[in-house]
Amino acid sequence: MGRKVTKAIFPVAGLGTRFLPTTKSIPKEMLSLVDKPLIQYAIDEARAAGIKEFIFVTSRGKGALEDYFDHAHELESSLKKSGKTELLEILRATNMESGAIAYIRQHKALGLGHAVWCARRLLSDDEPFAVVLTDDVIQGEPPCLQQMIEAYDETGGSMVATMEVAADKASSYGVLDIAEDMGAIVRAKGMVEKPAKGTQPSNLAVIGRYILAPTVMTNLNKLKQGAGGEIQLTDAIAEEIEAGRDVFGLRFRGQRFDCGSKAGFLQATVAFGLEREELKDEFVEYLHQVTAMRRAAE
Ligand code: G1P
Repeated sequence: MGRKVTKAIFPVAGLGTRFLPTTKSIPKEMLSLVDKPLIQYAIDEARAAGIKEFIFVTSRGKGALEDYFDHAHELESSLKKSGKTELLEILRATNMESGAIAYIRQHKALGLGHAVWCARRLLSDDEPFAVVLTDDVIQGEPPCLQQMIEAYDETGGSMVATMEVAADKASSYGVLDIAEDMGAIVRAKGMVEKPAKGTQPSNLAVIGRYILAPTVMTNLNKLKQGAGGEIQLTDAIAEEIEAGRDVFGLRFRGQRFDCGSKAGFLQATVAFGLEREELKDEFVEYLHQVTAMRRAAE
């Protein structure tokens, strides 16, 4: 069993231009699914997986994100005074232990690999770490990162979350070249970032959850440019394979939503809305009505 994974990096420096004009003043990680911002979904998943230290790689204009993790003392005491215990519980569940969060700035948008590299000094040389991309929201039980930690405890090496995608969508992802398919876990013999259409080695795409060996960070030190002229995390993981070290993919159990796209965000809103006891009945009825109306209009 490898060393315990207790730190996670959250690259949140992206501009979120796909959600303009909202993201003119609100970081995209603060966009809310039902009533919880994307960042909170990611934090909850990481906590469930045993992560104790949270490293955010931010950029200009992400102040709201940092404020979000401050304890809201005034709000807490006013809810307490008025006896709103349920709301108080919801609020307190977002409180983080002092010193558990670190913010690092990425000064230039040079790619995901570069964003992860910016956190290098907060990790020791022999420490495996997790990376969580908040755009990928995953509904799963146990939560995806926990499934990965469990799998990683058996395999060691590095591990990425994977799922099959349609062949014509593979060029939007990192894609695995499969050496050995063991069912839920696959061993990779290569990894390509955004392969040109028709050239993908498989349809098994990388989804934004990673458990990485410390050597991946060393690989990033080279700051080599890859697909789209960016420093790619995928390339630093592929280098592990070239160096003879294990990289695995986990076909996680659960539903992934691409909340970096508007369609994915809307789908996630519906899925998470339907999960809420207090909203479900009214929401289902509304969805039936809308579907019936659309059918009638066709
Ligand atoms: C990033 C990674 C890519 C991965 C994807 C998952 O790409 O570079 O390998 O498949 O996240 O969401 P992005 O979506 O940031 O272009």
